Amino acid sequence: MSEQQTKKRIMTGMRPTGKLHLGHYIGVLKNMVKLQDEYECFFFVADWHALTTQFDCTENLVENVRNVVLDWLAAGIDPDKASIYVQSHLPQTAELHIYLSMVTPQNWVERDPTLKDLVKMIRTDDSESKPNVSYGFLGYPVLMSADILSFNVDCVPVGIDQVAHIEITRDIARRFNNIYKTDLFKEAKPLLTNIPMLKGVDGQKMGKSFHNDIKISDDEQTTQKKIMQAITDRSRARKDDPGNPDNCEVAFEYWKAFGKEEQIQKVCEECKAGKRGCVDCKRELAAMINEEFRPIREKRKYYEQHPEIVDEIIKKGDQKAREAADEVLKKVRQAVRMF
Ligand code: TRP
Ligand code: SF4
Repeated sequence: MSEQQTKKRIMTGMRPTGKLHLGHYIGVLKNMVKLQDEYECFFFVADWHALTTQFDCTENLVENVRNVVLDWLAAGIDPDKASIYVQSHLPQTAELHIYLSMVTPQNWVERDPTLKDLVKMIRTDDSESKPNVSYGFLGYPVLMSADILSFNVDCVPVGIDQVAHIEITRDIARRFNNIYKTDLFKEAKPLLTNIPMLKGVDGQKMGKSFHNDIKISDDEQTTQKKIMQAITDRSRARKDDPGNPDNCEVAFEYWKAFGKEEQIQKVCEECKAGKRGCVDCKRELAAMINEEFRPIREKRKYYEQHPEIVDEIIKKGDQKAREAADEVLKKVRQAVRMF
C-alpha cells in the first residue's frame, strides 16, 4: 500500500471572508500546516457557506476565495500534501446535501447555537427589520455535514466555535445510517487545538469589521503601526514602573503566541522589574512578528504574480476531491436507492 493510502484522511474548510489575519494563522492555519504531514488532507474554501449570509452581495466572492488560497499557500500549505479545493467546484457535496436535508429533522437545525450568532451577519434593510433568514441559511449545518461526509472522514480539525456543527454532523450520519440500514457514514470527531483565540489589538475579538486585525498580507509598516496600538498593562503609568504581564491584555498575549520560550521569559522578567517600557516592548514585538511573516509574505507575492500556478493547484485539488467524493456518493446513492 502506498503511504498516501495508509494515512488517515481529514478535511476542513474556511468561509471566504477576505484576507486572513493573525488570529486565523495562530488559531487554525499553523495547525493545518502541521497536520498535512500526518494526514491525507482536503482543505477547501466554503464559498457556498458564504452565500448563506451574503447571498445579496457576491461581488467580492471570487476575490475572497482567491485570497484565502493565497494565504494558505503562503503560510505553508503544500499542495503536494494537501488538496486545496473550492466547495462550489464539487457538485457531489450539493447532491449529498439534498439527501442529508431529507433525513434532518427541522428542529435539529433550528436549535443549532452557532446559527444564532451567524444570523447577526445577515444584512437587513434597516436596523428595525428582522434579518431575512433564508431556507439556505437554516441548512448551514446540513451543508457542513455534506462537506464532511462527502469524504467520510474520521476527524475534522476546527476551532471550538465549530464543535456544535460537528455534533449535528454526527447526528445526521447516525440517522442516515439508521434509516437506510447501512454503516456507511463514520461519526466524525472534532480535532481541537488548545490554542486560545488571539484578540484584536484593542482587546476585542479579532475581525476585519472591527478594524483591530493584522493581516498575514499586511506590509511591515502597517503591522508595526497596528502592534503599537496593542493594549498593554493599563495600570502602568511610567515606563520604569513595574508592570504585570498577566494584566497586559494584548501585547503579552502576542508575545506568548509568537515568541520563543526564552524571549517570553525575558520580556516577563524585565517587565516585572520595570526595566522594559511598553513602547520599546511593542517595537520589539512588531519586529519579531514581521520577521516570522517575511518569508510568508514573499511567498504570497510570488503566488500573486503567478496566478496560473494557483489555478493549476486548485484544479488539481478539485480533481482529487471529486475522485474521493465520487466513491462516497456511489455508496450513498446505493443506500438511498437512487440509480
Ligand atoms: N463553518 C466553517 C467556518 O465558519 C466553515 C466550514 C464549512 C467547515 N464547512 C466545513 C469547516 C466543514 C469544517 C468542515 O469557518
Ligand atoms: Fe506588556 Fe511589554 Fe508593557 Fe510589559 S512591557 S506591560 S509585557 S507591553
